[in-house]
Amino acid sequence: MTTTSLSYKTRFETHITAVQECLEEILTPQEPEVLWAAMRHGVLNGGKRIRPVLLIESCVACGGTQQKALPTACALELIHCYSLIHDDLPCMDNDDLRRGLPTVHKAFSEDMAVLAGDALLALAFGVIPDNTLDVPDKVLLQVITELSQAASIKGLVNGQADDILFANDLPDEERLYRIHSGKTGALFRFSTWAGAKLAEQPEPVVSLLAKYGETLGLAFQIVDDLLDVQGNNALLGKTLGKDEAQGKITFPAVYGIAGTETILKSHIETLYSILDALPTTIQTKNLRFLVEFVQQREF
Ligand code: IPE
Ligand code: IPE
Ligand code: MG
Ligand code: MG
Ligand code: MG
Repeated sequence: MTTTSLSYKTRFETHITAVQECLEEILTPQEPEVLWAAMRHGVLNGGKRIRPVLLIESCVACGGTQQKALPTACALELIHCYSLIHDDLPCMDNDDLRRGLPTVHKAFSEDMAVLAGDALLALAFGVIPDNTLDVPDKVLLQVITELSQAASIKGLVNGQADDILFANDLPDEERLYRIHSGKTGALFRFSTWAGAKLAEQPEPVVSLLAKYGETLGLAFQIVDDLLDVQGNNALLGKTLGKDEAQGKITFPAVYGIAGTETILKSHIETLYSILDALPTTIQTKNLRFLVEFVQQREF
């Protein structure tokens, strides 16, 4: 494993632990036992937690605190985990392995996997108003509205629909950006937008951080596409080589490996220039580290 991957875990350990504890509490088992067990399997068994880390770090960079950002960060992770459960279903990517374990529909059943995803998505929206302290209601309402947009038809669901509708179709550049901006860019954009918003930053800062998150999400999905072709199965904990087998429109399918690496580099340069444009009051050190991590990650 690269030193970047190792230091990601060490550097953000306090955030990752806080998110895990908060998610454990939200998912304290209730009845029906099997549904809660399926939800817990989909959320609590590993994962990098990069979206919550980004949200908390963006808030802290803007002068906020981990505590202020934690409920929104957990809501975001619940939505991400629901999207993975549904993404793995036989009617979508049909994957057996996730985070090194059987996918939720394999460990439980397809019907419980659909319902576990539904429950996590709906649960997420209540977590924010129920648990956030010291943020004006007006800001919280904006955060909830923005999250619903990012998770839905203007974001993740739209990208997932295009990912499926365009499979085995022309590997066209415009479609590729639409798919990746939706399925991955939207939640990343939300994470950094929300961090700045919860810290009550003015509009220019919120917009720059949103642009940073969206671009980082694209870079993250470009690397995910590359890892599907040339990654390490054991480190990633998922079955590789599936994008090509399923005719998915990915960066390597459109540009080849070398072309994809060049595009990745240009996104990384854009990311540093966005961070350079932020006022000096914003602490960008960890946001810069996250760019390096996304570029070099092996898991
Ligand atoms: C996987 O996301 C789906 C993509 C958007 C590529 P992550 O790579 O963040 O998955 P976990 O949460 O760490 O397992
Ligand atoms: C999934 O993209 C993005 C989601 C919204 C879940 P992928 O289908 O490429 O993610 P993996 O490779 O299964 O993690
Ligand atoms: Mg998919
Ligand atoms: Mg998939
Ligand atoms: Mg993938």
